[in-house]
Amino acid sequence: MKVLIATEKPFAPVAVDGIRKETEAAGYELALLEKYTDKQQLLDAVADADALIIRSDKVDAEVLDAAKQLKIVVRAGAGYDNVDLEAATAHGVVVMNTPGQNSNAVAELVFGLLVYAVRNFYTGKAGTELMGKRLGILAFGNVGRHVARVAKGFGMDVYAYDAFCPADAIEAAGVHAVGSQDELFEVSDVVSLHIPATPETRQSIGRTLVNKLPKGGVLVNTARKEVINEPELLDLLTERTDLQFVTDIMPDAHADFMKLEGRYFSTPKKMGAQTAEANINAGIAAAQQIVAFLKDGVTKYQVNK
Ligand code: 3PG
Repeated sequence: MKVLIATEKPFAPVAVDGIRKETEAAGYELALLEKYTDKQQLLDAVADADALIIRSDKVDAEVLDAAKQLKIVVRAGAGYDNVDLEAATAHGVVVMNTPGQNSNAVAELVFGLLVYAVRNFYTGKAGTELMGKRLGILAFGNVGRHVARVAKGFGMDVYAYDAFCPADAIEAAGVHAVGSQDELFEVSDVVSLHIPATPETRQSIGRTLVNKLPKGGVLVNTARKEVINEPELLDLLTERTDLQFVTDIMPDAHADFMKLEGRYFSTPKKMGAQTAEANINAGIAAAQQIVAFLKDGVTKYQVNK
């Protein structure tokens, strides 16, 4: 059996070592395709792979067609919007993610971005503090829960809304549950996005919603760029010069957002989960899930059932 790691954005070497140990202990061969720049490299590499470990790498019908031996794809991470689930099912390929394994890394970056924003991007201009401010978390999954924990350390007042998580589960975590997305933006000084990119959430963060932020509000996006309605947000931020937007996913309209001097920042490349720890956790979990599936048919974490 051959396991291929195909990562346009590579894992830390220590994570690759961990994956190698897991796969070799199971008697499998490990192949590595990192920093590829051309889809053809991926199409060639998957030709004889039985299992595939990816990150945000796109796995579409063309990749699945080229992967004649493929039985399983594990997205080492949370969001699997980069995998064509229908095509995978049609090809008889199991798709899994590794939920929770890189969540803390993303949550820590939220505060990296947030402190940078409220301290006016370290220009020396007087900023504000986080203590006593209201943080709104949308939604309350693995990352949202870590964000809540860290926010309490800063002395923030934490609110959350999640269309799929009952209010009592949010309250049980010591967080104020609110009844809607609109209400979350109304009550929060800072809103941090943790929703997946789905047909329902795409473009859902737009003008009317973000305009509910109070004066001096900050929007933090470490989720997906697709959830933002960029033209609407840009319009609003041009008008409301009190608002800030910091993101770990560079918008398509980055050049236009850059004109909002002193109120916008994007990392050059999504780096929320780019820590040694997150790479080790997610990478090794992916390898273990592959071994458990190929040896014992374990389908826990399958997302294309
Ligand atoms: C995820 O969905 O797990 C995160 O967005 C991390 O993505 P990455 O593996 O591309 O860094």
